[in-house]
Amino acid sequence: MGEVYISGTGRYVPENIVTNDDLAKIVDTSDEWISSRSGIKERRITSGENTSDLAVKAAKNALENAGVSAEKVDLIIVATVTPDMFTPATACLVQSKLGAKKAAAFDINAACTGFIYGISVGTQFIKTGVYNHVLVIGAETLSKIVNWQDRSTCVLFGDGAGAVLLSSSKVRGVGSILIAADGEKGEVLQSHALPINNPYAPDNIEHPGHNHIVMDGREVFKFATSVMAESVEEILKRENLTMDDIQYVIPHQANVRIIDYAAKKLSADPSKFYVNLDKYGNTSSASIPIALDEINRKGLLSNGDKLIIVGFGGGLTNGAAFLQWQK
Ligand code: ACO
Repeated sequence: MGEVYISGTGRYVPENIVTNDDLAKIVDTSDEWISSRSGIKERRITSGENTSDLAVKAAKNALENAGVSAEKVDLIIVATVTPDMFTPATACLVQSKLGAKKAAAFDINAACTGFIYGISVGTQFIKTGVYNHVLVIGAETLSKIVNWQDRSTCVLFGDGAGAVLLSSSKVRGVGSILIAADGEKGEVLQSHALPINNPYAPDNIEHPGHNHIVMDGREVFKFATSVMAESVEEILKRENLTMDDIQYVIPHQANVRIIDYAAKKLSADPSKFYVNLDKYGNTSSASIPIALDEINRKGLLSNGDKLIIVGFGGGLTNGAAFLQWQK
């Protein structure tokens, strides 16, 4: 079996910044409420670019960072809950816009855990010797599925994309990966697709009546606080490491209170947990690769640094992975 490492990272967020005060003009909320309950100060909201547009810009950035051309990419995986269309997959749109002619392409949906699911899938293809270069992109235009009249959700989300290039390697850059799901809890965070509507369906068929995000925030909070620390502990156990060995934990950026809680439960130094949700809000599958790219480009990572990425989201799903930085 071969090894895998992250050979490049990239990100792109729309230019349009929407602050908490801006939102207070359209729903009954305040900067004080949003900041104190979530840590979010502002988010980027697209004024026209769709998910594939954000994904392509993040992917180009990652390829540049890796020094690998688009023609060399074997597979493109886009993790998203906000595709441009039902079909083609966003990954196919990205393949075309990048000119990655030989790449296979598909989307996966594991909500905010989607990027970690993508890393898991991409890693298998490289470890088994099938492919050399796999682009894993988390890209979202959540503003499409947010209910802009619902103050309890519209203040939390943002648009953006992050990407990494996974490449074959002699050194072990991607280690243990955990992905999990608890479908029985799925109804606490939903956004419906089209209802059944055809000449053969009865008139009384139940329609959900909405296709935007509906969330039981407290239930998601409970789930998140338990799985974040458990997933990190499991990865540490599999790698035979302790928190002292880890330079950074890069958590899904949903709520700073969830991240603080996880750090406390792990008795970890909170400064090891990278936080940028104040600038972007919750960008679902994009949040972890955006954060990873920020850390990388700020020059905070040295060769051999040990990182854990960890997330949770709709499904409900959760996951974590161990990375050892190679540059
Ligand atoms: N502005 C002002 N008041 C508000 C707002 C708002 N934007 N939203 C809700 N309120 C009010 C509520 O109506 C409620 O008022 P009431 O007491 O009069 O009924 C009060 O504030 C408290 O509401 P709660 O929902 O109890 O607030 P809580 O402290 O639980 O915080 C939050 C809510 C931030 C959503 C929290 O539960 C949370 O972060 N949950 C996790 C959510 C999450 O992570 N989601 C995404 C994960 S999955 C994914 O990323 C797709």
